[in-house]
Amino acid sequence: MPRPLTRRTFLGSAAGAGLALAIPPSSAAEPTVVRPPAAKAASDWPLSDHRDEAALLAVLRSGKWGRTSGGASRVKEFETAFASRMQARHCVATSSGTTALLTALGALNIGPGDEVIMPPYTFVATFNAITANFALPVFADTDAASFQIDPAKVSAAITPATKLLLPVHIAGSPADLDALSTLAKTRRITLLEDACQAPLAEWRGRPVGTVGLGGCFSFQASKNLTSGEGGAILTNDETFAHLCYDFHTPGGGKKSASSGRGANYRLTEFQAAVLLAQMTRLEAQATTRDANAAYLSELLQKIPGITPAALAPGVTRSAWHLYMFHYESAKFAGLPRAKFIAALAKEGVAASSGYASLNTSAHVKALASNPHYQRLYGKDTMARWMDRNHCPVNDRLVEAAVWFGQTKLLGSRTDMEKIASAITSIQLRAGELARS
Ligand SMILES: Cc1ncc(COP(=O)(O)O)c(C=O)c1O
Repeated sequence: MPRPLTRRTFLGSAAGAGLALAIPPSSAAEPTVVRPPAAKAASDWPLSDHRDEAALLAVLRSGKWGRTSGGASRVKEFETAFASRMQARHCVATSSGTTALLTALGALNIGPGDEVIMPPYTFVATFNAITANFALPVFADTDAASFQIDPAKVSAAITPATKLLLPVHIAGSPADLDALSTLAKTRRITLLEDACQAPLAEWRGRPVGTVGLGGCFSFQASKNLTSGEGGAILTNDETFAHLCYDFHTPGGGKKSASSGRGANYRLTEFQAAVLLAQMTRLEAQATTRDANAAYLSELLQKIPGITPAALAPGVTRSAWHLYMFHYESAKFAGLPRAKFIAALAKEGVAASSGYASLNTSAHVKALASNPHYQRLYGKDTMARWMDRNHCPVNDRLVEAAVWFGQTKLLGSRTDMEKIASAITSIQLRAGELARS
């Protein structure tokens, strides 16, 4: 059977057949647009059109490819636009979400001996940003209903060494920012939001990222706002903004007393140009996701054994980077989750089992025997750290979670109905599927 012709395979085959895409000469006053060869399916990601192409060509021809080249900067323009859209006073754009986190932790001078509290239900980059600074990540267990960090477990995990609370707005849904802000204030610990999955998400009507001291965002290829790679830090705190700016651009710092550390984590002008173009369709896409997620939840809640992730009470908007739900195999005649996901794929509904257990992973366990950590913290502390990592709620959650990616929510209402009927049809055949 011939493979379906995606944009990528089309471009590959067009090049192979000697077809050239007309790139206009650089002398043209307005760059001629190179149009995509085929309409894209809603499931394709990322989406682009003449706006992104014109923006890229304009940067190419300007000869100003980096923010240090002088003159007007697309990066600066993006920082202003993103800060304004997210109601933040300051934005520092970075080369990725990871480097946004590294910049923020660097600006806060997080280092050896410091403990940082984070959730186990997250991408490993949250953990890595802490260990890259030789600080100690401390896991606070997950709230099963929302899949977000449980503030009661955060409270219990605080010690005199805790320097930072680093909750993650997983799936683009804000963690309980009321409880976390109260904890941060009463215990005098900085709150930094890992909002890498959460652009446009809101807590009590306020965009995330500045409820704590700041928030870190990712514009990696799968994200709702993307430039392939990229990131940003938002904050309302001028001093922190200057510290972040200085940290991310060696030699560029003028205004603040730096910690004596830093790195080049700058976003390029190309990435900023794409982000500005992507922002022109971001709100419309988010509105579609909002409506489809609400409808999908309404449909899925009626299916026994399927429980969509709850939104914390203060969530007024989720970014819906992921659509997550609990799958109860007992209500599907014992059909294991892997077989449920395989059956969904056969119905044309791609799904994933989501994150594996991070706190018990080989990557995390390796830290306990890392010689630098053993020297810095002591062998006993690192052995006890393994016990502190116990997160029983999360252990159960990783076995029961199912995810849909954000592009699914860009479909039609009928697409949502198709997802629900695929699940219902699997439930009706579950016994038979479990035996096969
Ligand atoms: C929760 C979370 N934190 C951090 C990151 C790191 O972002 P990046 O991949 O842009 O470095 C990601 C990206 O997937 C993420 O989902």
